[in-house]
Amino acid sequence: MIGIGVIGYGYWGPNLVRNFAECKDASVKMVCDLRREQLEKVERRYPGARVTTTPADVWNDPAVDAVVIATPVQYHYDLALAALQAGKHVLVEKPITSTSEQANRLIEEAAKRHLVLMVDHTFVYTGAVRKMRELAETGELGDIYYYDSVRINLGLFQHDVNVLWDLAVHDLSIMDFVLRQQAVAVSATGLAHVQGRPENIAYMTMFFEGSLIAHVHANWLSPVKVRRTLLSGSRRMVVFDDLEASEKIKVYDRGISVNPSPDNVYQMLIGYRAGDMWAPQIAVSEALAVEAAHFVACIRDSATPITDGEAGLHVVRLLEAATKSMAVQGRPVSLDSTVSA
Ligand SMILES: NC(=O)c1ccc[n+]([C@@H]2O[C@H](COP(=O)([O-])OP(=O)(O)OC[C@H]3O[C@@H](n4cnc5c(N)ncnc54)[C@H](O)[C@@H]3O)[C@@H](O)[C@H]2O)c1
Repeated sequence: MIGIGVIGYGYWGPNLVRNFAECKDASVKMVCDLRREQLEKVERRYPGARVTTTPADVWNDPAVDAVVIATPVQYHYDLALAALQAGKHVLVEKPITSTSEQANRLIEEAAKRHLVLMVDHTFVYTGAVRKMRELAETGELGDIYYYDSVRINLGLFQHDVNVLWDLAVHDLSIMDFVLRQQAVAVSATGLAHVQGRPENIAYMTMFFEGSLIAHVHANWLSPVKVRRTLLSGSRRMVVFDDLEASEKIKVYDRGISVNPSPDNVYQMLIGYRAGDMWAPQIAVSEALAVEAAHFVACIRDSATPITDGEAGLHVVRLLEAATKSMAVQGRPVSLDSTVSA
């Protein structure tokens, strides 16, 4: 049984506590939050878990094997580093850290101590995203042409991070998992409509080797909520609509074929294919339940998580490049290709 300590019981923390409490090989030993009123909720719901307002109590508790961090991003690094240095495995919320330097430091510390470091890229553990990866991986879609994602709603304006660091993290983690190719450059534009606050609308383009391109549109100032991703290949196209209750993934047998003209070798004829659409069956388990079980299994088996520190680092590097590009009205910023895939 793996003893879990959770730091941060605000909006997202309760979901993590609930899923670890329900995980058969884990037991929630302690929950920490700076706000007493949040801890009173924990005491009522989980009488077996101890509570504290001091984060160090969590990693100093011998009953705690692993620390889960669900505080705002600015605290992720210090808390995760201290927990690793105390010999605890760590699951940290997305984005893993505020800088790639910090992410690298956590990766080093975890490796040195043979501890599991995982980031909560929740969507990677959904049936829908796993299906998208399977379709891409098995060649069902053909050569991938583009990844295009829209994540917009009338959202909570964050004061410490811009909309890309809040919303696009999800798209970038899905993109990384599905495409399994590293972008070579990033261009981003965005604007803040509230003075003194970070950008609330942003467009981010990722360039890859070859003819693959990806785009993410993130916005907290939209009248409607959209959570839609297109993944287009030479053979089939996929639409992932997370707001659909049941048929979240639809595969379209649509596309084009390019044929040389019989009359003129320099002229190409574009043929259009409009075939069937189908919605494949996808697993419906709650992503966080799958993820909690995976974290516990990685600790037990000394295995590397699917969303390990490197996965967290990739996303932070893309976000850093986007932030730089946004400051110069979208000039592409190249990504150092030395980082391992
Ligand atoms: N994976 C997802 O889908 C998802 C969804 C929402 C939020 N998140 C992530 O979860 C994290 C928390 O977001 P939230 O929306 O729950 O924020 P929140 O502000 O609602 O909650 C954070 C909680 O952490 C507590 N806290 C802050 N600093 C602390 C410290 N040093 N020690 C102990 N407690 C501390 C606060 O009192 C608060 O209760 C963020 O990293 C966010 O990006 C992830």
